[in-house]
Amino acid sequence: MNSDQNASASPKLTLNLSLQDRNTFGFDTSAELAYDITAADQIPAVIEQIAEKKLPWRVLGGGSNVILPKVLPGATLLMNIVGQEIIASNADSTLIAVGGGVNWHDFVAWTLDKDLPGLENLALIPGTVGAAPIQNIGAYGVEIGEYIDSVKVFDVKTKAFITLTKDDCHFAYRDSYFKQNPQRFIVTKVVFNIPKQWQGRIHYVDLAKQFFGQSSPSPEEIFLAVCKIRTLKLPDPKVIGNAGSFFQNPVVSSEQYETLLQKHSGLASYPDANGKRKLAAGWLIDQCGFKGRRMSNVGVYEKQALVLVNHGNGTAQDILRLAKCIQDKVQKEFGVSLEIEPNIL
Ligand code: EPU
Repeated sequence: MNSDQNASASPKLTLNLSLQDRNTFGFDTSAELAYDITAADQIPAVIEQIAEKKLPWRVLGGGSNVILPKVLPGATLLMNIVGQEIIASNADSTLIAVGGGVNWHDFVAWTLDKDLPGLENLALIPGTVGAAPIQNIGAYGVEIGEYIDSVKVFDVKTKAFITLTKDDCHFAYRDSYFKQNPQRFIVTKVVFNIPKQWQGRIHYVDLAKQFFGQSSPSPEEIFLAVCKIRTLKLPDPKVIGNAGSFFQNPVVSSEQYETLLQKHSGLASYPDANGKRKLAAGWLIDQCGFKGRRMSNVGVYEKQALVLVNHGNGTAQDILRLAKCIQDKVQKEFGVSLEIEPNIL
């Protein structure tokens, strides 16, 4: 990756670019001004132009965690910085620097090819490497925050490239410093720290079932098991538009959890940090009878109630109307409010 060393050409600019293939809901959206960002040093000049013209703007990675309107006004920066390399290695760990535009799943597969296991539980998560720290992607008992060494960003406020350490990133469940400061940082590169000591993590119930009676599966076996589980439970965005989990799993106090459990013995939940309890939003929605239901061109996925889908020709408005309906019903039945996970642009 020499994007920081050599001055790059201006990014390609396209007017009214269709983003239908660049958002996993498959919404028919176009970007007024789409900048193809292939190197970090292209960013300052683009941000300067945006500021001069007072344009609204946003960064788009794989479009797997966004709800897009018909037209995205102003500037859309398509994060396409690629490249991945091992930058350091010692007896304890390996550091890998990866461009923000690299496809997440391809990167996970690459780490296994290089015999650097650790990220296999996060296989098949759609999206890009640059988006991973923003919502601290997590699945099957692993969150990416724990494997991040640092994140290289352009700070729009100070107009400087800076490196945020893992501690600076304030990682929490589906949360980070980047998410808390929207429109401030553009992630250009992520440095991962992969410990040399590897131990498979198969405690998450779905994985434990897959490996019942087999105590030490290999990283590749875990990778394949995660791919299999996700393929069975979650819709492939290429076939049916979706953005993965549409709501976060709500965190409630232990008192509220106990009260709910008395009324609903099957309540699905996980322990959370600080003695609180994380409820499975999919279970709550399922109990309200939404699974498989359709509302105009959108609906609730038939195999996982946490996932809202676009059956074709759906729009952001359709999805938000359905989401509101679900939120109201869950609030009424359980007294719990559900927070939308994807960014509404
Ligand atoms: N459940 C139901 N009905 C449903 C869906 C779920 O009863 O329709 C119950 C399940 O039986 C289970 C519990 O709810 O007891 C949890 O379900 P699951 O194991 O599928 O996980 P989740 O909590 O729904 C979270 C993440 C997923 C991640 C999985 C696996 C969030 C918001 N979602 O889902 O992340 O893949 O755990 O770790 O934290 C994503 O963010 O896009 C995503 C898919």
